[in-house]
Amino acid sequence: MLNLLKPIEWKNNRLILLDQTLLPCRIKYLSLRTSAQVWEAIKVLRVRGAPAIGVAAAFGMYLGLQNCKAKMSWNAFRRAAQQQGDYLNSSRPTAVNLRWAVERQLALIDRMREQSVPRILAALLKEARRIIVEDMEVCKAIGRHGLPLLRQGCAVLTHCNAGGLATTRYGTALAPVYAAVEKGRRISVYSDETRPLLQGSRLTACELKRAGVPVTVICDNMAATVMAQGKIDVVIVGADRIVANGDFANKIGTYGLAILAREHGIPFYCAAPASTVDLRLKHGSQIPIEERKPEEITHGFGRQTAPTGVNVFNPAFDVTPHRYVSGFITEKGILKPPFAKSLKACCSPII
Ligand code: MRU
Repeated sequence: MLNLLKPIEWKNNRLILLDQTLLPCRIKYLSLRTSAQVWEAIKVLRVRGAPAIGVAAAFGMYLGLQNCKAKMSWNAFRRAAQQQGDYLNSSRPTAVNLRWAVERQLALIDRMREQSVPRILAALLKEARRIIVEDMEVCKAIGRHGLPLLRQGCAVLTHCNAGGLATTRYGTALAPVYAAVEKGRRISVYSDETRPLLQGSRLTACELKRAGVPVTVICDNMAATVMAQGKIDVVIVGADRIVANGDFANKIGTYGLAILAREHGIPFYCAAPASTVDLRLKHGSQIPIEERKPEEITHGFGRQTAPTGVNVFNPAFDVTPHRYVSGFITEKGILKPPFAKSLKACCSPII
């Protein structure tokens, strides 16, 4: 049994979140009871990773509406729900799972036009809990499908954290690693540190170490050398949004890794659930890319490391063109090029 931290849970009418900003030094769980608290937790990355953000938003919808009066009309309730959805969506723009979860809850409300507010609220909570269960199953399936890519003794390079902490359990990019380890295979992982917020060293290294998987942290600018030295067999990363032609957004630095993998003849896979696929967008250039505050670069983790007032550009994600992708590891199997065709066949448009 893998020793994985539980990042998100529903208990006693509260959303219980592991505060990931404190890892790896402290394990502290937060107990959230309002949608404003959920919004803040997503914004400052207490909960992060596309699938986990989606789960939090599904509960955020319930928390934001739970005090609506029982006698409220369906129309008024639907308007309030739209407002809640728009509010939660404003926390982070890139991961489509957030919108996917909000739209799934809105679609449920639309199907319950004839029902009372208390019944709709009960259904919203049930749906959010169902999303947790589904996410675990989806991650397990991604692990199963990615398993053949990881033979005994192989080394995986990953970027950011697309592990158990970014989902409800197992992760996406790390799911095949956990599946292989559970089968008794010896697998090692190189984890990019992932500037500027260090999800690779703080989170990926933390969860792999707890699970007993050998992990080596490297700075982002060491990936080329490690590949040139023949230390990497396969690169697996996660995604925040995959669009119709197979371009995808993931943590800043992913695009560079994809180019490096191509140069060194190393297979480059992206692991993600169907809820990360956005067929409404045709090209990667249409994906909204979050820009975060300069202090994350100039004053990271308590120390000033750039001159006061210097210009800073801090995009949180980049877009990897589909031509660098060997395949998408999804819960339905590994999708191969041409991605316009394989993605369409596998994923229906979101809600
Ligand atoms: O800014 P973050 O930490 O939310 O970025 C997370 C990533 O880029 C992950 O790779 C992605 O969300 C996939 S998580 C399964």
